[in-house]
Amino acid sequence: MSILITGGAGFIGSHTCVELLQAGYEVVVIDNLSNSHEASLDRVRQITGRDLRFYKADVRDEAMLGRIFTENHIECVIHFAGLKAVGESVRMPLEYYENNLNTTLTLVRAMRAFSVKALVFSSSATVYSSTNAMPLTEDVSRTGDCSNPYGWTKYMQEVMLQDIARADESLSFVLLRYFNPVGAHQSGLIGEDPQGIPNNLMPYISQVAVGRLERLSVFGDDYPTPDGTGVRDYIHVVDLARGHLKAVEYALGHRGCEVFNLGTGRPCSVLEMVRAFSEACGKQIPYVIAPRRPGDLPVVYSNPDKARRMLGFETQKDLKDMCADCWRWQSLNPRGFSE
Ligand code: NAD
Ligand code: UD1
Repeated sequence: MSILITGGAGFIGSHTCVELLQAGYEVVVIDNLSNSHEASLDRVRQITGRDLRFYKADVRDEAMLGRIFTENHIECVIHFAGLKAVGESVRMPLEYYENNLNTTLTLVRAMRAFSVKALVFSSSATVYSSTNAMPLTEDVSRTGDCSNPYGWTKYMQEVMLQDIARADESLSFVLLRYFNPVGAHQSGLIGEDPQGIPNNLMPYISQVAVGRLERLSVFGDDYPTPDGTGVRDYIHVVDLARGHLKAVEYALGHRGCEVFNLGTGRPCSVLEMVRAFSEACGKQIPYVIAPRRPGDLPVVYSNPDKARRMLGFETQKDLKDMCADCWRWQSLNPRGFSE
């Protein structure tokens, strides 16, 4: 049985390809490589000893999707393809709405034409409103009030997919709200390879550790948290990838539309992360305390119970694994895939 993975050459997509291939699925990838390298797919082949089929193309290319659905027997689609940088989305809202909404619309239209019923979609914790109590719970916490265009694209895609599934009872859509994916495959062969200066905490720390950046700025130490720094729910990317395997199984066995958080439910502060990474790499991470980053919340973490109950999904890796695996990837590939 083949699974089509849009954006499969990217950070989460490549790790998900590994888990699917190791579980015996056939994998077909479409990616325009706008934020990734084809080398990541060679590494996926190297890790698994299995082949996958790659189409270098844009998901908005409807004719190409038609060709892919004709040439392969696709049972389920995992839709990762999209633009994801919050700051860039504020500067380039048109490109974000255009890419993120149209990839989804074109894909779902092609799925309908070829009677493909099951879809797993990459959403984000960013769809939750900023006014909720923690932890965030799928069917209780409020969504909307997004603070940037990227967040709105995820929110709008969720609404579109829910409406489309409601109108056609044969469909099965699973919307996954990721918390903070970090780490890398334990082989050190694939990992996160951000373009330019990283915006997110763990890739920033790992580039400080490897000497590409001088020091970390800790954005605020006066939050109402135990050590004053921001608290998040970091999830190892391999656990996250395994969550997709569970979601595919669920989508193939059910109908309708379900939303799941994918997080650990374990809050972790910036300074805890700095300490854990220092231990993993065996050196101190230089940092300075800087002003709060506009738009940041003090504390964000998930209630992971629904995914545990309905998908049978439980994370297996802890903060130590996240830091050790991220460091292995970064130190073996200091310039990412462009070595
Ligand atoms: P990524 O940028 O590494 O992967 C996305 C992939 O999609 C890239 O390989 C890119 O080349 C491809 N792509 C983008 N637009 C495309 C298009 N029009 N046609 C074909 N390919 C296209 O990002 P990631 O971290 O792996 O994230 C995957 C998905 O998960 C994204 O939708 C992202 O918004 C979502 N997400 C990510 C995070 C995170 O922190 N990494 C958190 C929440 C949600
Ligand atoms: C980011 C995204 C959000 C996405 C989420 C999950 C931004 C602005 N938001 O949020 O849309 O859903 O990831 O992947 O990119 N920090 C520092 N110094 C740094 C970088 C970060 O102190 O150089 C702190 C932040 O203030 C925060 C924590 O580290 O407290 C985590 O930041 P980050 O990795 O950017 O994730 P989110 O803020 O959760």
